[in-house]
Amino acid sequence: MAIDFKQDILAPVAADFAAMDKFINEGISSKVALVMSVSKHVVEAGGKRMRPIMCLLAAQACGENDLTQTQRLAAVIEMLHTATLVHDDVVDESNLRRGRPTANATWNNQTAVLVGDFLIARSFDLLVDLNNMTLLKEFSTGTCEIAEGEVLQLQAQHQPDTTEETYLSIIHGKTSRLFQLATEGAAILVGKPEYRQALQQYAGHFGNAFQIIDDILDYTSDAETLGKNIGDDLMEGKPTLPLISALSKTSGTDHEIIRKSIATGGLTELDDVIRIVQNSGALDYCRLRAQQETQLAIDALAILPESIARQGLYNLAMLALDRIQ
Ligand code: IPE
Ligand code: IPE
Ligand code: MG
Ligand code: MG
Repeated sequence: MAIDFKQDILAPVAADFAAMDKFINEGISSKVALVMSVSKHVVEAGGKRMRPIMCLLAAQACGENDLTQTQRLAAVIEMLHTATLVHDDVVDESNLRRGRPTANATWNNQTAVLVGDFLIARSFDLLVDLNNMTLLKEFSTGTCEIAEGEVLQLQAQHQPDTTEETYLSIIHGKTSRLFQLATEGAAILVGKPEYRQALQQYAGHFGNAFQIIDDILDYTSDAETLGKNIGDDLMEGKPTLPLISALSKTSGTDHEIIRKSIATGGLTELDDVIRIVQNSGALDYCRLRAQQETQLAIDALAILPESIARQGLYNLAMLALDRIQ
């Protein structure tokens, strides 16, 4: 049976999820009008809000019934995520995000970078209010690793020899690490350190699957479904898993087309590249890797006591996979 987002994932934490909005709205308020307009532009466009939902579910799965404090943590997570997207769109020169023109396209790069900085700073401002040094330390370290992941990706740009191992280090930093902060952070906050490792494993593998899926969709989906343009990765010469895998599965002309596309970037070869990633079996390999990572994520949940929230985390992982079926 198909997983229903509201019923099978959100339901156990729906009230807290709605209450979290207040903290996000407070978080993006600023005495400088431009700061607020830019933040609002991105926040009001919505987004799937998977990370805060995961944070709330994780706290409940640890056995916590009162999620008042976790609402604040979930807001911190979503604001950090939003900041990374605003920065990412500058770096990737992307024009469309959440179905709207990006902040860099609407204003300019300078504004987007500075408002992104503001959102990170404000996230930590809110986090300090939770008065938990372990949590603060975990988030400080984790946020450094997210930045490192993005820089590692920048170094790999236009490098056709990038390995799957390097790709995994990149996505661990830029994507999975924030999911880990969402779930491990919840365990720290509600005083259940014994569940930290299981939740870290779950979120780490979930994040890997999620980014692999996002990288598949960059070749197979469309702007209307995604709310962002496809082909952005190729445009930037990013050696994502579909291309790394295509290189290992091709020779001759096709191999050279992929190598050259990574080396130069641009969209002139997009149609050829899509044909090659499809026909070479590269996308099949990516789907398999996403399934394997999802299975590892689900396996990690076994340590947690059985609960509706744990089932919600399970369903969330399965639903993410649905996007590529
Ligand atoms: C986008 O994340 C960045 C990636 C890690 C691929 P989401 O797909 O969760 O973005 P929103 O929040 O729903 O817009
Ligand atoms: C994910 O990388 C961005 C972050 C985790 C900050 P991508 O560049 O693949 O994300 P999209 O496709 O722009 O959302
Ligand atoms: Mg991007
Ligand atoms: Mg992408």
